Amino acid sequence: MPQDNNTDTAIHKPLDEELQGQIYFDQNKVQSKAKSFYVESYGCAMNFADSEVVASILSKEGYTPTKELDNADLVFINTCSIREKAEETIKRRVFIFNKQKRKNPNLVIGILGCMAERLKSKWLDEDKLIDLVVGPDAYRDLPSLISNVQHGHKGINVLLSREETYADIEPLRLDNNSISAYISIMRGCDNMCSFCVVPFTRGRERSRNPYTIVAEAQDVFDRGYKEVLLLGQNVDSFKWQNPEDKTNTSFAQLLEMVARIHPTLRIRFSTSHPKDITDDVLYTIAKYKNICKHIHLPVQSGNSRILSLMKRTYDRPWFEERVNKIKEIIPNCSISSDIITGFCTETEEDHQDTLDVIKWANFSTSFMYFYSERPGTLAARKYEDDVPLETKKRRLAEVIKVQHAISLATNESNIGKVFEVLIDGDSKRSDQEFIGRTTQNIKVIFPKKEHINKGDYVHVKITSANSQTQRGIIVE
Ligand code: SAH
Ligand code: SF4
Ligand code: F3S
Repeated sequence: MPQDNNTDTAIHKPLDEELQGQIYFDQNKVQSKAKSFYVESYGCAMNFADSEVVASILSKEGYTPTKELDNADLVFINTCSIREKAEETIKRRVFIFNKQKRKNPNLVIGILGCMAERLKSKWLDEDKLIDLVVGPDAYRDLPSLISNVQHGHKGINVLLSREETYADIEPLRLDNNSISAYISIMRGCDNMCSFCVVPFTRGRERSRNPYTIVAEAQDVFDRGYKEVLLLGQNVDSFKWQNPEDKTNTSFAQLLEMVARIHPTLRIRFSTSHPKDITDDVLYTIAKYKNICKHIHLPVQSGNSRILSLMKRTYDRPWFEERVNKIKEIIPNCSISSDIITGFCTETEEDHQDTLDVIKWANFSTSFMYFYSERPGTLAARKYEDDVPLETKKRRLAEVIKVQHAISLATNESNIGKVFEVLIDGDSKRSDQEFIGRTTQNIKVIFPKKEHINKGDYVHVKITSANSQTQRGIIVE
């Protein structure tokens, strides 16, 4: 799930910048009468993965994806409720889509994902221009809901499921420039952290049949992808029981099954939970070179009292023990994290503990946020949101500063060292340079060289660094 070291907007990645590529935009192949859909996704990687499930369902109905809002017959926004700011961003986008609908009254506007689930029919009550509201477990119903709309009715399905994993739906990859494919391995979350809306918007945790996961990973590898990102809100609690012989598959076993597909297929996964990550998982990561040496391990706070209020079910000593174990079993592993500042009752001393844990654990990067109260959560019902906004923001700025200093020191300490880098593609700034990532998920930028292409592994010697990236040159 992590995509950058940043604040609130880091995980918001509108797909319209990304949607390009051979299948959809080869204009010669697109029939002029084909109906098209436009989808914009917000929130975590699981939402982006879901948009690819939606795209697959729609393409079977004869719709083709477009990156032009103006050309679309259907417009979907796959929404996120994680923080108030995320919801505000989405409401602004819906306002733009409504403008579009005033120009083209036949346009169908659909709200998908977590905000659809959270606000349900309120969407339709409050905004007459919206046609469809579909929650994360109801995407199979899209064709019939769209047909209802075409017959003049509004469409809503926000039922959550205990079984749905979309295991049999082959996602339609929306970012064809990428060498990396998302694979959802589970859905929902049973943890009920007191600040978090996800259990309400995504429902109960359920794991997907591991054989369908391996088949999907094999398929993307055969189609030229070089990396798979296994996704779940808490991958360590992946558990699947074979209905025939009643044998269980754990996350460690799943990792091993995917790692064996091919030694050149890189495997990443997110998100790990400090309470659940097992030594078995760590030994499996250590055993296979192609399982990336990077664990995203959100700590949220460095203070045990706050962790207890957050209902994270671990305390600071437990977190430290898990980090020590990671460093012992996988010495070259990087650890990134998520941090919340200004949670209910957080004092300056508690906040100092958070600054301290970032330094102690030496996180490579973190996603950092100030606490945003979410309706319906335990924290909203039981605790007072008593840290003033300015204090939350000041603490967030301090957390970001400390994290950047740690990232910079780590990246600078790599100068002169050589890393294996998988090339993602051209760097943003120049088509004369590639960008790639090390197994530790550190970005590296370096000049191109003849006969070396996107998707290749190269050895790069680091020559300079900042807190976000390292620069280097290809060495033989
Ligand atoms: N399942 C993952 C987290 C998913 S949400 C885990 O347990 O680690 C991603 C991150 O958003 C969380 O780790 C947390 O840092 C942040 N977050 C969630 N709810 C929030 C809230 N109400 N206010 C601020 N940040 C929040
Ligand atoms: Fe939210 Fe906690 Fe579940 Fe993560 S583990 S999705 S923070 S409830
Ligand atoms: Fe947001 Fe839903 Fe993901 S609330 S972070 S899109 S699970």
